Amino acid sequence: MDTSTAEQWAVIGAETAKNQGRVAERVLAMLRSLDDIVDGFSTDQLTHCLQTATLAERAGADDEVVVASLCHDIGKAISVPNHPEIAAAILKPYVRPEVHTMIRVHQDFQGRHYYGHFGGDPDAREQHRGTLSDEEWALAARFADEWDQKAFDPDYDTLPLEHFEPKVRQVFAAARMPLGSNAAKRYSTA
Ligand SMILES: [Fe+2]
Repeated sequence: MDTSTAEQWAVIGAETAKNQGRVAERVLAMLRSLDDIVDGFSTDQLTHCLQTATLAERAGADDEVVVASLCHDIGKAISVPNHPEIAAAILKPYVRPEVHTMIRVHQDFQGRHYYGHFGGDPDAREQHRGTLSDEEWALAARFADEWDQKAFDPDYDTLPLEHFEPKVRQVFAAARMPLGSNAAKRYSTA
């Protein structure tokens, strides 16, 4: 990189921007790969993600919340123990901060509904008290209590992935980079 030129970076910036659509396609491929992960639940993980997004959409959630709901367990395609952080990191550049937080803390909020079955603290969400804004807390609680923890019903009228594909492509179409950030400056010539 020491010997790179502005012209080369202009090419990289332009090519990277041109190929942004790849992000949504990779996310959709990761979601499809969840259909063979069951791990003892009553639905596979793709159905669970689709059902969570269906519940969110039918409750009137906006597109960023619906897409984040769809992707909230996408990290399980790689690793279950740290799956919230994986999904949150994938979503972070593309959604507003409280939606990123909703996914980052979702396992601790979800704990209310099952941690007690194996000696965990059902109030694990309380460790986030004081670090989340009121808006973040309300959204994270609504996500866990009204959508995520209910979305394991194999008989529910769950919408298919095709229904959500336009929203996935739209949300991942452009990263929200703060003006003046190094990344925004780097690609501003593209
Ligand atoms: Fe979930």
